[in-house]
Amino acid sequence: MECRAHVQSRSQQQQLLSLTERSFVATFTAAVVDALEDLPDNFTVTDPGICGHPIVYASRGFLKMSGYSKEEVIGRNGRVFQGPKTNRRSVMEIREAVREAKGVVVSLLNYRKDGSPFWMLFQMCPVFSVVDGRVTHFVAVQVPISGNRRNSGGRDARLCEGSCRREVLGLEEWGPNCGSGCGSVLDSDSRGLQAEEQCEASDHEKRKAACAIRNIVSILTNYSQLTNRLVCGRRCCSDGLALLGSSVIISLGRIKQSFVLSDVHLPDMPIVYASDAFLKLTGYNRNEVLGRNCRFLNGDETDSSTVLQIKECIQKNQPCTVRILNYRKDGSSFWNLLHISPVRNASGKISHFVGVQIEEGCPTQEQDGLTPEMRQRGTVGAVKVALRTLSIGSCSSSSA
Ligand SMILES: *[C@@H]1O[C@H](CO)[C@@H](O)[C@H](O)[C@H]1NC(C)=O
Ligand SMILES: *[C@@H]1O[C@H](CO)[C@@H](O)[C@H](O)[C@H]1NC(C)=O
Ligand SMILES: *[C@@H]1O[C@H](CO)[C@@H](O)[C@H](O)[C@H]1NC(C)=O
Repeated sequence: MECRAHVQSRSQQQQLLSLTERSFVATFTAAVVDALEDLPDNFTVTDPGICGHPIVYASRGFLKMSGYSKEEVIGRNGRVFQGPKTNRRSVMEIREAVREAKGVVVSLLNYRKDGSPFWMLFQMCPVFSVVDGRVTHFVAVQVPISGNRRNSGGRDARLCEGSCRREVLGLEEWGPNCGSGCGSVLDSDSRGLQAEEQCEASDHEKRKAACAIRNIVSILTNYSQLTNRLVCGRRCCSDGLALLGSSVIISLGRIKQSFVLSDVHLPDMPIVYASDAFLKLTGYNRNEVLGRNCRFLNGDETDSSTVLQIKECIQKNQPCTVRILNYRKDGSSFWNLLHISPVRNASGKISHFVGVQIEEGCPTQEQDGLTPEMRQRGTVGAVKVALRTLSIGSCSSSSA
């Protein structure tokens, strides 16, 4: 609370606008704001890392819809739009989603600046940092609910039919909670007591919200690549292993060879895990590596036909072995006997590529009498075993 007052008291537009920059600078480039400005949707972006969880960005559409100016909105918490008739059930669902870093879709009664209330479909989703798995921002899209679909006491059941068809959204994890039911929401079992009005959005409105979320997250993801702090709308399986159970990290940590894991489902296949031996070999810190595509190891003298060969293997989902000139952080080069191989998750789908690096002619690597091929195969096998724990332990249970 005090922090928020602090933000508010620092006068005028410039200070407040700089809150957007302050929040975005670590994760995105400044150009992300221009890209967001081009979107027609009504949405806000909030930063849970700043005290009071303030709005750090509000779209033009949102400002028009709410009647507030940008200066009045930036730096404030989303609850300023709520009022006496705002449905508490929905507010609680949103609060819980924030706490658990999950997506949520609810109907919400908000108030404009002039005090007039309006129903909207509120869809929110968290955005994660690949580097450390932290939630960097929440994106919240608001689609005004049109028509007169206000339900009271469940009388107008017709309007509820088919309104919870998750599959039309194509985004299971962000789909509406069908269990919350339609019609009035009772605060207690006794009918008629404190019935809260509830307004259901149409399928069209739900699709619109889901689509807007997807667009916004893809813009954020795109612009985050420039700062190598990739974000992504999904926590499970997609945004690095930092989040995925300590047992996986421990299993991977036992593998002594130099290797990295890249996530095939993220744009540009960023590295989501790098072994200690890899960091030692290349001279980079872990956070300089995570979130980047492996090609940063290439340099001036790297043979482009070898690079192409690697690219083709990945496209065909095939393993391959190459000898490639790579560069360390200090600029020195080394010949890398690189083996890459796809790794499947428990459902048999390719989820990652593992890349195993062996420095050619490195004496410490040649004491155990194993050929590079044997060592590479052993490493890939160990990674596959470690990732199987991941698929079973983390993803399948949390996607429910
Ligand atoms: C944004 O809100 C306005 C109401 O101010 C509404 O007419 C418009 O359809 C909304 N835009 C989107 C893309 O949902
Ligand atoms: C992605 O970001 C680049 C800048 O890095 C920009 O030029 C491009 O238009 C963006 N693409 C999309 C689809 O936003
Ligand atoms: C395996 O990956 C596919 C494709 O990303 C995904 O749909 C599936 O849920 C994953 N299975 C498990 C068990 O993680």
